[in-house]
Amino acid sequence: MKNFLNTLNYSREELERLIDAALRFKQGIDVSKPLAGRSVALVFFNPSLRTRASMQVGIYELGGNAVVVEPGGTSWTLEHRDGVVMDGDKTEHLAEFVRVLGRYGVAIGVRTFAAMKDWSEERVDPVLNAFSRYSEVPIINLESAMHHPCQALADMMTIRERLGAGRKKVLLTWAWHPKPLPMAVPNSFALAAAQMGHDLVVAHPAGYELDEKLMETVRQKAIEAGGILQITNDIDQAVDGAEIVYAKSWGAKQFYGAPDRDMAERAPYREKWIVDEGKMARTHNGIFMHCLPVRRNVIVSDGVIDSPASVVIDEAENRLHVQKAILVQLLSTEY
Ligand code: CP
Repeated sequence: MKNFLNTLNYSREELERLIDAALRFKQGIDVSKPLAGRSVALVFFNPSLRTRASMQVGIYELGGNAVVVEPGGTSWTLEHRDGVVMDGDKTEHLAEFVRVLGRYGVAIGVRTFAAMKDWSEERVDPVLNAFSRYSEVPIINLESAMHHPCQALADMMTIRERLGAGRKKVLLTWAWHPKPLPMAVPNSFALAAAQMGHDLVVAHPAGYELDEKLMETVRQKAIEAGGILQITNDIDQAVDGAEIVYAKSWGAKQFYGAPDRDMAERAPYREKWIVDEGKMARTHNGIFMHCLPVRRNVIVSDGVIDSPASVVIDEAENRLHVQKAILVQLLSTEY
């Protein structure tokens, strides 16, 4: 059985094929309805606009039916740990929840953000892994503690659409935000950019390093694909000549569970790390990317996000097309 948990288990050729399939959906060439008469469960532990709407629409366009479940909201609170005595506030165990949903539908999508309490626990994606351990149908990661692969694939598609295939100079930059955020988006973007052979620069202030083990994998993938990975604390230098500026804020690993300490640490970086017209002027006709939602004039200036260089709405649209491609691939017997 196949899952879509991150892009690591996919080769560059397989990722390119998914983008090809997504483009066929976008161009109206593929109007097939392989989900006719079938349902897909979408489990949301956290809020969403793009992921929820694009999955629901995509499943509908493939002829299927989406069943949206919100544990602790419209369904029971869930326990994911094995062997615990469930005499607390959790009503149902994932062992039953996941297998029951698998009897109704052909795949399960799950969104489960990092709780941002304990880095050592969350870096191994415990909730997502419990889903894949118990499930008898494919699991699609709709953003977990560590990865957001559907977003990353949509981002790679957007880069190809805007700038063509081939190696590009990609900058992934940290940005200030009024609260610490998870690392799933930057992790998956960095990994996918490396897998696609881009020259990747990751810029962040000292203390905001991404997961070292993952970044070692990113470096390895970049080298295998003919690209490079550079990590810097110098945003001014990093932006010079970039063809893609991808902005995202994330919390510091050492301050997981201590947001006040993170906010104190990042206070000096607010003005310096916004993506504004001055930074974009230093790029090589760079495009601006962000997964959304984005805080205007905090992460990015109005002047940049409203400019022709901004591709944020295309990225959001492409979520629909890549997720249709992922669903078809997961449910196909031909792959
Ligand atoms: N980019 C993204 O995943 O958006 P949502 O959180 O709105 O789903």
